[in-house]
Amino acid sequence: MSQHKPKLVVFTGAGISAESGIRTFRDSDGLWEEYNIYEVATPEAWNKNRELVLEFYNKRRKQVLNAKPNAAHKALVDLEKKFDVWIITQNIDDLHERAGSKNVIHLHGEINKSRSTVDETLIYTIKGEELLSGEKCERGSQLRPHIVWFGEQVPMMDVAYEIASSADLFIVVGTSLVVYPAAGVIDYVPDNAPKYLIDPNEIKVNGITNLTIIKEKASVGVPSLVAELMKDRG
Ligand code: OAD
Repeated sequence: MSQHKPKLVVFTGAGISAESGIRTFRDSDGLWEEYNIYEVATPEAWNKNRELVLEFYNKRRKQVLNAKPNAAHKALVDLEKKFDVWIITQNIDDLHERAGSKNVIHLHGEINKSRSTVDETLIYTIKGEELLSGEKCERGSQLRPHIVWFGEQVPMMDVAYEIASSADLFIVVGTSLVVYPAAGVIDYVPDNAPKYLIDPNEIKVNGITNLTIIKEKASVGVPSLVAELMKDRG
């Protein structure tokens, strides 16, 4: 009989991909220091200046295509030998998938995909680096980046809440935990589940039980926590 694997849920943010060369949003060199969120990452921005929005995400896509998974993404794959691992990520990059993780839920969309502006179920893989003005879906409407913008619903949120609420262990890596509803996922984790937070900076967390804070960069903190958890499982 196969051994029951505990369910281990990992919630990741931009910090896990920082050491792969992908810029975070709110660090001192973060994207939101250079760009105004409301000019590039909202439905209003899309209606006002489509070219600027496309260019912003084309740059992001180029950066992701040139990046590789780092030690933190890779270590999370090892966990699958002994745990039922689910990754809930706010990241739009595909570094978890390229590292080899099986179950990855993207809350804020995926940079390598586009979707129709008249039918949100029409989603396409972008070939190459750029999505351009004039590129259309099969129903003839302009394609937009497959990204959840500020002010839009987060369609995967309910799936994420359900996964979090059945976690036996929960790990948070590299997120400032300031963007909702995504950050609220941690509130759904059972009180008695051990929780770990890996981030080199101080993160505000209130009322979270059984929480261990590991003040390290992802490439150091994740592999060492993974080694410890694997050892505990024998
Ligand atoms: P943030 O930029 O807000 O936070 C990045 C976090 O990563 C911070 O807590 C940093 O301390 C931490 N960090 C930096 N370097 C790190 C490293 N080497 N290892 C581990 N952690 C490190 O990014 P998110 O919390 O992911 O949404 O941002 C949430 C959402 O806001 C994003 O998904 C995006 C953004 O606006 C949309 O665009 C819809």
